[in-house]
Amino acid sequence: VEEESLILILYSQDDTMDHGAPQEMIAFQYTATVADHLNAAVTKLGYHAELVPANGTIASLRRKLDKYSRDRAFIFNNCDGFGGKNINASRVPALLGRMGFKFTGSTGEATALCTNKKRCKKRLIECGVPTPRFQLFSKPKGDFKYDYPAIIKPVVEDASMGIDLESVVSNMEQLHKRIAYVVERYQQPALVEEYIIGRELSVSLWGNGEVTTLPIVEEDYSKVENPLEQLLTFDSKWNPDSYLYQTIIWRCPAPLAPEDDRRVREAAIAAYKAVGLRDIGRVDIRYRDGIAYVIDINELPDLSPESGFPRSAQIGGISYEQMVGRILDLSFHREGLR
Ligand SMILES: Nc1ncnc2c1ncn2[C@@H]1O[C@H](COP(=O)(O)OP(=O)(O)O)[C@@H](O)[C@H]1O
Ligand SMILES: [Mg+2]
Repeated sequence: VEEESLILILYSQDDTMDHGAPQEMIAFQYTATVADHLNAAVTKLGYHAELVPANGTIASLRRKLDKYSRDRAFIFNNCDGFGGKNINASRVPALLGRMGFKFTGSTGEATALCTNKKRCKKRLIECGVPTPRFQLFSKPKGDFKYDYPAIIKPVVEDASMGIDLESVVSNMEQLHKRIAYVVERYQQPALVEEYIIGRELSVSLWGNGEVTTLPIVEEDYSKVENPLEQLLTFDSKWNPDSYLYQTIIWRCPAPLAPEDDRRVREAAIAAYKAVGLRDIGRVDIRYRDGIAYVIDINELPDLSPESGFPRSAQIGGISYEQMVGRILDLSFHREGLR
């Protein structure tokens, strides 16, 4: 990467949303703010940077990017969705690959795997990584074949979209009601899996080949009395007035005995490799009886300064700017540019 090289900060800009709940719009709009932080960091690192919103259609995005030189422009891909849909996130890295651009983060293929919770879990199982037992429902019919309590999630969302206190169910009646809600509201099948009552740990990782972990984050639920309410609902992430937002204690590094710490990190690294992530990732885990169940793999972790990955880096002694520099270096190196 040369002096005159240009870093394009590509981010999803969605002002339409055709499904889900109205208050969830905030999660879509938010990536523009993150892009500003990335832009500031990249500029401070001494690169020329340009913000490029990814909106419209894939064809119009292609036209917009086509004017940049593949040799001179390197893309920092921060598109966590496209056209208002999380499921379309993989179309962006897939396009970049087809166009011959080099970019940070995972390929279209790995992104597609991670954005579909069913496909992701299947891959984890194939690779021997523990994940809660699950079943997919496209309509409210029949009983859950594993153990209650169960949690119901839209199969292709993230950012806790469609997750609230009604997501955890203890019998078939509640199950059917919630499946109907998810299918109708989110226009997609419902993934039902065993609800793991245990600690919630999140591991930020980076690297290619040799993958390293940052200090582990714990969402400490010790002040939330009901175990069926110990989860990261949409409100707990986005609504400062909500009970869970105010009650869950964020800790980093998570207080873990060395043996537990090792198991959690190993599961996270195994998950990262199982889906073939590149450069960075974050793996969400529920830990119970010495087993680290992988519940979610984020191929593009939230990079706003106050979120998990950057805070975890910060606690590991790496500033936001250094973190951004490291992500770029990892991808340059992977592309043979340095
Ligand atoms: N199997 C499970 N057992 C217990 N809690 C779960 C389980 N699956 C999800 N959760 C809770 O729901 C939250 C959101 O689920 P997750 O799969 O991470 O979806 P998202 O992609 O929206 O982040 C998790 O952070 C966790 O608190
Ligand atoms: Mg998650």
